[in-house]
Amino acid sequence: MTNPFYKQHFLSTDQLTKDTLPFLFQEIDAMKEIALTKGKTDILSGKIIAGVFFEPSTRTFGSFMSAAQRLGAGIIPFYSMENSSVNKGESLEDTIRTIGCSADAIVLRHPESNSVQDVAPYSYVPIINAGDGGHEHPTQALLEAYTIHQHYPSLEQRTIGFVGDAKHSRTIRSLSKVLAEMGAKKFVWVSPDSLRMLPDVVAIIKQHNIEIIETNNVEEHIGEFDVMYTNRIQKERFDDPAEYEEIKDVFITTPPLLEKAKPTMIILNPLPRVGEISPEVDKDPRALYIKEQMQNALYTRMALLKLILSQ
Ligand code: NCD
Repeated sequence: MTNPFYKQHFLSTDQLTKDTLPFLFQEIDAMKEIALTKGKTDILSGKIIAGVFFEPSTRTFGSFMSAAQRLGAGIIPFYSMENSSVNKGESLEDTIRTIGCSADAIVLRHPESNSVQDVAPYSYVPIINAGDGGHEHPTQALLEAYTIHQHYPSLEQRTIGFVGDAKHSRTIRSLSKVLAEMGAKKFVWVSPDSLRMLPDVVAIIKQHNIEIIETNNVEEHIGEFDVMYTNRIQKERFDDPAEYEEIKDVFITTPPLLEKAKPTMIILNPLPRVGEISPEVDKDPRALYIKEQMQNALYTRMALLKLILSQ
């Protein structure tokens, strides 16, 4: 396949299709090999990657900045926009144009849904969406799809349980779309009644003829999960703090709950966790979130940067 990502923006899970996913997985394998054997390469020597983060981040920011440097690129890390001209009132368009005069690609995270997609046409260089509000987080979905693919090369007979804030979690939304594209059999979206998956994603999943269950009862369904994907209730997306406080601890993954699950089930969480998985679960061999999933973040982001910036 000729590289469809070269010099393109990477904005949405729509770019993760039946055709591009195998190509990306191969590239991620190659980057894993480089990271584990030599640590780095000079494929992107002479390039500069800017990380522009208007929301907190530990893993996404850290893995992108590491990925850039392991490929031989330099970095412009804008970790807190408080020190930038945004604080003087500069628009996102002008900020992106400015940074594009110094960098070859921009990794952008912003609290408003669709802001990354909306600003991309103003950019002189490729923009990579590192999370736009509660809308999309396509690079996270890719690394999670890759992690799941390592354990289940086919999803044809697989049931995926998503547990948490289906309404606001950009990672549950994005991963649902990608796993549907990969041919999963059944989704169980477990959320409080007030935080159900929004109609835009439901409509896309229905087009794939996937069986869907929406429930607030984890115990009843955990026995059928092949993948359990949990994510925190997204505090920063609530208008009413009292509403968040009321439901924040509604789902907690504990060893007794996991006794009801298949021994082969894998557990993912994009992190940070804020109580939704008890620390005793970290020792469970099914808990991929504690290391494997995060390591794959580095390889995945190396692959994306390489494909966007080299032919
Ligand atoms: C997620 C995010 O930012 O959406 N974290 C991440 O990128 N690893 C999940 C979250 O914040 O809950």
